[in-house]
Amino acid sequence: MSVVKASNVYKVFGKRQNEVVKRLEEGADRDDLTKLGTAAVIDASFEVEPGEIFVVMGLSGSGKSTLIRTLNGLWAPTAGSVEVLGTDIAKVDAPTLRKTRSEHVSMVFQHFALLPHRTVRDNAAYALEIRGTDKAERDKAADRWLKAVGLDGWADKYPEQLSGGMQQRVGLARALAAETDILLMDEAFSALDPLIRREMQEQLVDLQSELKKTIIFITHDLNEAMFLGDRIAVMRNGRIVQVGTPEEILTDPANDYVAQFVHDVDRARVLTASNVMEKARQVVTNQNGPRVALRSMRESNASAIYVTDRHRKFLGGVSDRDCIDHLRAGATTLDEIIKPIVTPASPDDLLIDLFLPSSETPLPVPVTNDEEHLVGVVPRATLLAALGNQTGNDEQSNEETSLEWAAPVNTGVIDQVLAETDDAAGAETADRKGAF
Ligand SMILES: Nc1ncnc2c1ncn2[C@@H]1O[C@H](COP(=O)(O)OP(=O)(O)O)[C@@H](O)[C@H]1O
Ligand SMILES: [Mg+2]
Repeated sequence: MSVVKASNVYKVFGKRQNEVVKRLEEGADRDDLTKLGTAAVIDASFEVEPGEIFVVMGLSGSGKSTLIRTLNGLWAPTAGSVEVLGTDIAKVDAPTLRKTRSEHVSMVFQHFALLPHRTVRDNAAYALEIRGTDKAERDKAADRWLKAVGLDGWADKYPEQLSGGMQQRVGLARALAAETDILLMDEAFSALDPLIRREMQEQLVDLQSELKKTIIFITHDLNEAMFLGDRIAVMRNGRIVQVGTPEEILTDPANDYVAQFVHDVDRARVLTASNVMEKARQVVTNQNGPRVALRSMRESNASAIYVTDRHRKFLGGVSDRDCIDHLRAGATTLDEIIKPIVTPASPDDLLIDLFLPSSETPLPVPVTNDEEHLVGVVPRATLLAALGNQTGNDEQSNEETSLEWAAPVNTGVIDQVLAETDDAAGAETADRKGAF
C-alpha cells in the first residue's frame, strides 16, 4: 500500500472554486480563469511508497506548498482525494484528521518555526508534549534526536543562540522526535547557506538510510531534488508535468519545460557509477599470464590492465613494465605482480566521487559490487563529459592516459619481448577466453 496517494487533486482559491475545477476539466487554461479563482493545484495524481524520498520540485508559485498542505490536511482539496495510509483525509471528521496527523505526519518548515522562549530541548520535545508524553520521557527522546542531528550538548540553549543551520537541525529533531512515519519538508533547507545546505542534505540521506521514513520534500532547487529524490515530481503552473527518478528526468525529460530545467543540473552530483558504466574491456583473469596481459595492453595501447579471478572478483592490475620484467625472468603467472592500482568504485557512487580514483589509474575507474566482482568501468571521458553536461563519448574511452602513470611501453619493445620469451613461456597459452 502506498503511504500517501493523491488522486486528481485540485486546490482552487477564490469564490467560484467548483466552477474553476469544472472549466479546467473541460480543458480551459487556468490563466483564463483568474477572475473566477486561482487554481494552485490542478489534477495532481501520484503515490508515495513506504521509505521513499519523494521530491516535489518547481519554480516559486508553481503550487508546491499548496499541494503539501492538502497532503497533511491543512487544506481540503477542492476536488479529488488524498489518502494517508489508506485514510481519505478529506472525508474523515476533525478528531480523526487530528489523530491521523499527529500520529503519522510531521512537518519541517523553511523558517524553522522554533519557539523562541523555549530551550532547544523543549522545542525538540514539542510534539511529544502536545501528545501528553511525560517530561522525563520526552526529554530523553529530545536529547536522543538532538544527538542524531548533530546537536549533542546544545539542548539547554535557546534558538537565538544557534546559527540558521543549527536551528534547522532543531526543526528536524523536533519532527523526528514525533516518531511519525511520514515527514513533510517544505523548502526545509532553502534558507541555508550552500555549504550548510549540502551538509543537511547529506545528513538527511544518512538518517533516512537508518530510519526509512517516508519523506515528501519540497524544493525549487533541481540539484537538491536530484540529490535527495528517489523520485521527483516536477510541477509547473499548478500541474505535475513529470514524475520520475532523477535519471529519468535527466535523460528523458517529458517536455521542453523539464528539459530546460535540467539543462543546468550538475550531472556529476546526480548520476551514479551504475548509470554510466560500460563493459570492462581492459581486463584479464589471473589464469592468464604476462604474455596475454601484455598483448592485451598492446592492443588497447594502455600501460596497465585490470586482473580478476575467474569469478570476476577484482584483484587489481598489472603494468606493462612489470609484465616485461616478469616475462624476462621466465615467470608465467600474474599473481606476484598484481598491484592494487586503484580503489574500485561502487555502483551507487556519484560521479563527483570518481574523480579521485580516476586520477589513480591509467584505466577507466573499475566498479565493483558488494561481492567485489567487477561489474563495469567508468571512462575518464564520461566523467569529464558529466562535468561539462554532455553525454559521454565512446570513442574517447580508449584515450585513457594519466600524468601520474608512465606512457605505455612502445609496441616494438613489447613485440620483441614476446618474441624473445616465446620458448621460455611456451606453457602459457594465448587463450583470452577469460578476458571480458
Ligand atoms: N491562501 C491562498 N489564497 C490565495 N492564493 C493562494 C493562497 N496560497 C497560495 N496561493 C496561490 O497559489 C499559487 C501557488 O502557490 P504556492 O503553493 O505557495 O506555490 P509554491 O510553494 O510552489 O511557491 C500562487 O499563485 C499563490 O499566489
Ligand atoms: Mg512554497
